[in-house]
Amino acid sequence: MQKLSITGGSPLRGEVRISGAKNAALPIMCAALLSDGDLRLSNMPDLHDIATMRKLLAQMGVTVASGEGELTLGGANVNKLEAPYDMVKTMRASVLVLGPLVARFGEARVSLPGGCAIGSRPVDLHIKGLQAMGAEIHIEHGYIHARAKRLQGARIFFDIVSVTGTENLMMAAALADGVTVLENAAREPEVVDLADCLRAMGADISGDGTETVTIRGVEKLHGASHRIMPDRIESGTFLVAAAATGGAITLTGTRADLLETVLEKLTEAGAVITAEADRIHLEMRARPKSVNVRTAPHPAFPTDMQAQFMALNAVADGTAMVVETIFENRFMHVQELRRLGAQIDVEGNTCVVRGVERLEGATVMATDLRASACLVIAGLVAQGETVIDRIYHLDRGYEHIEHKLSQLGAKIQRIS
Ligand code: EPZ
Repeated sequence: MQKLSITGGSPLRGEVRISGAKNAALPIMCAALLSDGDLRLSNMPDLHDIATMRKLLAQMGVTVASGEGELTLGGANVNKLEAPYDMVKTMRASVLVLGPLVARFGEARVSLPGGCAIGSRPVDLHIKGLQAMGAEIHIEHGYIHARAKRLQGARIFFDIVSVTGTENLMMAAALADGVTVLENAAREPEVVDLADCLRAMGADISGDGTETVTIRGVEKLHGASHRIMPDRIESGTFLVAAAATGGAITLTGTRADLLETVLEKLTEAGAVITAEADRIHLEMRARPKSVNVRTAPHPAFPTDMQAQFMALNAVADGTAMVVETIFENRFMHVQELRRLGAQIDVEGNTCVVRGVERLEGATVMATDLRASACLVIAGLVAQGETVIDRIYHLDRGYEHIEHKLSQLGAKIQRIS
């Protein structure tokens, strides 16, 4: 089991390049199932979840060739229409093969995702949407079995905004017969990036990025090239780390318009932020001020940045309310932060965080991807050494994070 050892107290300074977005790359990789052409992807992040998705697609018969930040996926010889439990249980995003398989091959067997650390996270909305499009679906032995001669366009209303639900049905609808309208759709930038890639493949999609997405099905899609958008959550994570440590950093290869609410919150906390082209610069000249956070679907404050702001508020001047409205159990990082001396009370989906002058290093345990990022940030500001265990969670979503942080002056190393 690998760990990270961090000695806190160094302000982050310098420049760091942001990687391609994990949550755009994962659905876009599944889009390769929709055509017999080649999908040539660039700006691909080197992450554990990406490797898992490559393995899943390869065992279905997708050809995979990769280069530096590049990945070419070929859907011509798909011969297995199944996503097995042992793969789905490690990565919930595997469910994104469901829509494409039913749309192109009329059949799919996809394991139900197990629960995960941050909540039950069912896929009932994915299933309901496909049934509305004419798929016959039954669940047995923990697998979703879906069949459809040809999916029919339908009007689908999401009771809850679902990012991968929107993405799965957008891909399914791309090859359906007729028009599909997704109401109360997710507006996340990763949904728009997937739509851009699907359009490059010949899909007819409009309204992506708004709550109503219209997809006019076509007979066939073809191969295409697509550059993955920057990772807005990695961007936000580094900015929060710089703010918490009182540093000054520049992100390159990113886009400020992707994380406006995060930049607003950091400005409220006292950071000085400037942005131009693909760069964001942040300077923190004093102790951060506490900022209230309430997560909600895009364009509101992203749930994937909640844990990071909990770490910032833990050492901020004042008291902050942190409200998590998306997942029912996304405060796993709180008890670990308390081990470092944080003063946090949890009431249901609300935390009250009373900032303290400083945290004390300790041994803590990562429980999920963004909780790990929170603990890294806390370790960067805590006095003395913090050791974070189970950092495989971190490797799922952050490319070479200790290397990037070391470049910014952090005292951090991976230990086995
Ligand atoms: C995506 O997960 C992201 N993952 C998550 O990022 C992110 O936290 C989440 O969206 C919210 O923004 C990927 O894009 C691969 P949802 P997803 O469907 O699509 C409920 C990270 O850190 N729901 O938008 O699985 C669900 O339980 C990860 O990179 C249903 O009830 O999330 C949750 O409470 C973590 N039924 C809410 O909706 C369904 O059929 C939002 O879930 C689907 C979802």
